[in-house]
This record gives sequence, structure tokens and C-alpha cells, in this order.
Amino acid sequence: MSDHRVLVVFFSRTGTTRMLASTLARMLSADLEEICDLAERRGPFAYLRCLVDSWRKRPAEIVPAGLDAAQYDLVVVGTPVWAGSASAPVRAYLLENRSKFRQVAFFCSFGGLGSQAAFAEMRALAGKAPVAQCNVRAAEVRRGAVGALLVLFVSALKRHLADHEALEWTC
Ligand SMILES: Cc1cc2nc3c(=O)[nH]c(=O)nc-3n(C[C@H](O)[C@H](O)[C@H](O)COP(=O)(O)O)c2cc1C
Repeated sequence: MSDHRVLVVFFSRTGTTRMLASTLARMLSADLEEICDLAERRGPFAYLRCLVDSWRKRPAEIVPAGLDAAQYDLVVVGTPVWAGSASAPVRAYLLENRSKFRQVAFFCSFGGLGSQAAFAEMRALAGKAPVAQCNVRAAEVRRGAVGALLVLFVSALKRHLADHEALEWTC
């Protein structure tokens, strides 16, 4: 595992996905990159913009990624769920970087509805099936009750990387 390079990339409007992303990066000894959105996402009009972007499946304008996804064995991408979709900045990131991914995994924070549809969209945008995915309710993040779930997710990722390495050695 220590030889593998892992990148955790995320967008967060109000901090929930950020909290998950930084915990995951620590657990995976991964690099961490936050997607920077050029649109204003605060306030009631901005909330509406998030909704419209989601309904139209519109990618946001984002600052180009600082870290090169092609340099990583696994890129773990996290988003909040917006109207049963991936957030617009994550949509843009996946579209802009899809040719660079070797392996991907997904996580999201959400209120309770629409995570599977968001994951399906992310899979289509990335052009790859994720090696694992993990949805976490925002209320559980606020209660600090996500430890066991993240341990399971990280174990699945580490197992996958180890198996993949074993396959490469036997080829
Ligand atoms: C515009 C918008 C739409 C949302 N739509 C959904 C939704 O369809 N389903 C859901 O469970 N939560 C929805 N949420 C709640 C967020 O997914 C949830 O609060 C998430 O944890 C926020 O993550 P963040 O703090 O990283 O921005 C929505 C939030 C926003 C701002």
C-alpha cells in the first residue's frame, strides 16, 4: 500500500464533504486536493444556482487541478449530493480529468436521498467503474458517527490496491 499513490479530491460547499475528505486522506496517507469553483455558492440565489446546475447537469467553471491525476494509482473523488446529482464542480473535475484516471473510487455526503444516482452520474463522467464507493449522511458526519463506515471504505480501497499489485506481479 505504501508504494501506491492515492489522491483524494473533493468539493464542499458547507464543510461536510471536506471533513470526510481530510479524514480519508489521513487514513490513506493520500494527497488531498479541494476543487475550487469560480461561482458564488453562498446565499439563497447561489443555492438556486446549485439546483439549476444539477437539473441541467451543467459543469461548473473550476480552477484547473493543481495535482496531476495521471500520477496517481487511485483517485478518490468526493461530492455533496445536489438534487440527486453530483455537484457541478465535481462534474467539471471528472469531465476535465477523465482521460487521466487509472482507478477511481467515489464518496459523497448527503441528506438521505439520491446518492446512488449521483454515483451513477460520477461513473459515467469518469468513464470508469469505481473500485468502491461510500455514501455518508451529513447528520452522521455532524454527530461524529462515521468512523466505522470510513474504516470499511478505506479497507476496501487498500484491499483492492493490494490485489491489483498482486495481479501485476503475477503477469
Ligand atoms: C443545492 C442542494 C441540493 C441538495 N440536494 C440534495 C439531495 O438531492 N439529496 C440529499 O440527500 N441531500 C441534498 N442536499 C444536501 C447536501 O447533499 C448535504 O447537506 C451535504 O452533506 C452538503 O455537503 P457539503 O457540506 O460538503 O457542501 C442538497 C444540498 C444543496 C445545497
